[in-house]
Amino acid sequence: MPRTVITFGTFDVFHVGHLRVIERAAALGDRLVVGVSADALNLRKKGREPVFSQDERLAIVAALKPVSAVFVEESLEQKRDYILEHGADVLVMGDDWAGRFDEFEDVCEVVYLPRTPAISTTALIEKIAGSV
Ligand code: CTP
Repeated sequence: MPRTVITFGTFDVFHVGHLRVIERAAALGDRLVVGVSADALNLRKKGREPVFSQDERLAIVAALKPVSAVFVEESLEQKRDYILEHGADVLVMGDDWAGRFDEFEDVCEVVYLPRTPAISTTALIEKIAGSV
């Protein structure tokens, strides 16, 4: 049986921190499925519209070599359903979420990966906005 890894994120203004987490997540199994958060979810979660629409963000993530499949994450409350639906054996999250998803250890392995230092979409937007 192939080992399926699942991870979630906004992946807006795609940067190398996103690439690294996807590469490291993929290395933990045979196939990687990525839930890309919906525009409406982002507005609720971060209080702003993403720079790139969910269709654009999905297209970028889907085109990455380590990614086998993508889907839209409509709600944070549906994580368990997504894990079961996609037959995930491992849930990978950045360590900014450390401990927050331990409740899913009854259905899959839960792994928190360290973030790539010194880069984030929010910091990039601020940097670009400050330089124009
Ligand atoms: N991530 C990472 N290293 C970074 C930035 C993000 O490993 N420097 C990971 C996050 O931990 C998450 C995934 O990339 O697993 C998607 O994160 P996302 O929230 O979309 O990206 P951020 O750059 O953190 O966005 P923001 O600044 O808007 O919070």
